[in-house]
This record gives sequence, C-alpha cells and structure tokens, in this order.
Amino acid sequence: MALNKARLDRFLAQYCQVNRKSVRLILAQNRVLINDVVAHDIDEVIDTFSHITLDGKVIQANCAYYIMLNKPVGVVSATRDTKHKTVLDLLEYPFKNELHIVGRLDLNTSGLLLMTNDSRWSERLTLPEKKITKRYIVTLQNKLTAEYIAAFAEGMYFAFEDITTQPAKLTIISDYKAQVELFEGRYHQVKRMFGRFRNPVIALHRCSIGNLQLDQQLAVGLSRKLTALEVNNINQ
Ligand code: URA
Repeated sequence: MALNKARLDRFLAQYCQVNRKSVRLILAQNRVLINDVVAHDIDEVIDTFSHITLDGKVIQANCAYYIMLNKPVGVVSATRDTKHKTVLDLLEYPFKNELHIVGRLDLNTSGLLLMTNDSRWSERLTLPEKKITKRYIVTLQNKLTAEYIAAFAEGMYFAFEDITTQPAKLTIISDYKAQVELFEGRYHQVKRMFGRFRNPVIALHRCSIGNLQLDQQLAVGLSRKLTALEVNNINQ
C-alpha cells in the first residue's frame, strides 16, 4: 500500500472547496490542528495518518495498525489464495483488509509474522540496507557440523539472483537444531542455505524481527496489536 502524502494547502483547498488564498487565511486564524499542534505552514506535508481538525471538527483520522501473528504451518502468507487458508483469514479485526504483510514466511514456516497498513514502517523493516535481524529456529534432517558456521558467516552465492548473501550467524543448539540470524530476506533463504549442505529443513520457525520477539503467550494462529513501544523499538 502506498502511503498518500499531500501538501496541507492542497488538502485543505480540496476539503473546504476554497482557493489557496483562503487556505492561508484559515491557517492564519489558527483553525487547523495537525496531530494536536496548530498548523501555520501551507507547505507542511501530511500523510494518511495525520490527525487533522478544522475548527475542532475531525476532518481526517486514519489509524495506523500493527499486528503480530503467530503463524501456523500450512497457512499462506498472502491476502488471498484459492487453495490455502491465508494469514488474513486468521484475523478478526474490522480493518484487516487494509493490512499488508511485512516479510512473508513460506507455507510450511511458522512463527512471527507482522502485518500493518503503515507502509513507511514496513519499508523501514524490509529495506536490505537497514539490515534488520530476523531470527529463526531451524530443525534439520541431518546432523550439523561446525563447517556450517563459517559457510553462513562467509555468505553464499545465489546464481539465480546473482548475489552473495550477507554474512549470517548460525549457532548450533543441538545435533539437528540451529538458530540462524539473517540480516536480509531472500526467497527461501534459510532452506537454500542449508540446501548447500544437502541438509533438508524439517521445521522452520521465526522467533524475532529486530528487537521484537514473538509473544510466547500468543497461541499458534492467534494475533495481537503491537504496543506503541514495540512499534517504535523494533528497529532501534
Ligand atoms: N527462509 C526460508 O527458507 N523460508 C522462510 O519462510 C523464511 C526464511
């Protein structure tokens, strides 16, 4: 979803059906508040989530929503699908159709999935240069060895995209279990990296994104809104 930005004078001219000169007058009379602050500047840029009042009457009040879902295996990270249940089908919020997914998980991957209608926030989390950490717990078919640690840290060449993956951190938890930290999100990245060792991934679970951990109280398939602190601290 694109975040609509507009200049305040254009927005008010359209809303009040007046010319720009009249808008200047309205602003000079301190009649407009943006996010509870008196607006004076005709060049001020507003967006979908700016709370705007004119003479005390709310004329724009769109809310930003931030949702964490404990995604089950077998549910597709899409808003529509003809074959499978989608992550949207699991939500019961009246605004759910406004949401988009922040970093998909494969059909057979479980764990932390974020959804929002705030595209500025989701862009900050998904831009490769931001290097937000995604942490996964991986269960493998074959035994892990110390070799994996160096190979993940070095990066792997993916011919299809013609890229070398960013250094990733692999920590061995037990013979068949590892924690992997990625700083980017390439297509099927975890599975393809273990594929280099011909070691199939049996289970993949995302437990955190940046500073945000999957809420352990959230049963599989359930979701909740993020707190303001979680929204703001995720990429600190
Ligand atoms: N890597 C994968 O292979 N699958 C996911 O769902 C996420 C990361």
